[in-house]
Amino acid sequence: MKMVLLGPPGAGKGTQAKLISEKYSIPHISTGDIFRKNISEKTKLGIEAKKYMDNGQLVPDKVTIDIVKDRLTEDDCKEGFLLDGFPRTVKQAEALDEFLNSADGKIDAALLIDVAEEFILERMTGRRVCSSCGASYHIKFNPSKIDGKCDLCNGDLIQRKDDTEATVKERLDVYSKQTQPLINYYKNQNVLLKIEGTKEISEVFDEICNSLKAIK
Ligand code: AP5
Ligand code: MG
Ligand code: ZN
Repeated sequence: MKMVLLGPPGAGKGTQAKLISEKYSIPHISTGDIFRKNISEKTKLGIEAKKYMDNGQLVPDKVTIDIVKDRLTEDDCKEGFLLDGFPRTVKQAEALDEFLNSADGKIDAALLIDVAEEFILERMTGRRVCSSCGASYHIKFNPSKIDGKCDLCNGDLIQRKDDTEATVKERLDVYSKQTQPLINYYKNQNVLLKIEGTKEISEVFDEICNSLKAIK
């Protein structure tokens, strides 16, 4: 299955993506994670991406589209994939469609995790992420078993640099201006599945699995 995840920052895309990718045995591809890995390795891409990410702005389309195309040509994507945080602009969505069309493929489902703005700030400021594997936790809603350590790989949990109140507000603004138009884009393709994202993590996951049954 070829899927994309949509939703505002802090909606739970990364959290659900880990669960979906395990259940459906498809790779979880997060452009945010790819950029963060490059930042920690101080690559040219990382240095470029950091300028935008620290301010809550989008990394330019050209850079982002090429990275995703490269990743999608890898072998593990043949049977499907789950994109998290891409596309984020109409231009990215069009480039993705064009790329898939050229191999007679298309997106099977665009999962929109819907969460109202009032919940976002608490989710973001309480988020902790694993510095090794990228797994996402929350000090209140999804704590790790050992304080400050990742359940999956025992890596150190850290706070993301862009999870400050001011940057979160900027990211929400960018989302509503540049990414929200994608909801209609995928609705028009009849692949949009809207998921209520304010329930507990396991309930959100159940709703996702149920709605995916309908399209399989
Ligand atoms: P990215 O990393 O994609 O960030 P984002 O979209 O802002 O989303 P987040 O990762 O912050 O949230 P999430 O939805 O994954 O939520 P999570 O599961 O962690 O992008 C970062 C930056 O990279 C961008 O600003 C941009 O600069 C750049 N970038 C990335 N992709 C790009 C692209 N395509 N084009 C251009 N630039 C790009 O959950 C959040 C918290 O809530 C966690 O603590 C979690 O434990 C908790 N939580 C999750 N679900 C629940 C629940 N149901 N109930 C209670 N708590 C919950
Ligand atoms: Mg994420
Ligand atoms: Zn980890």
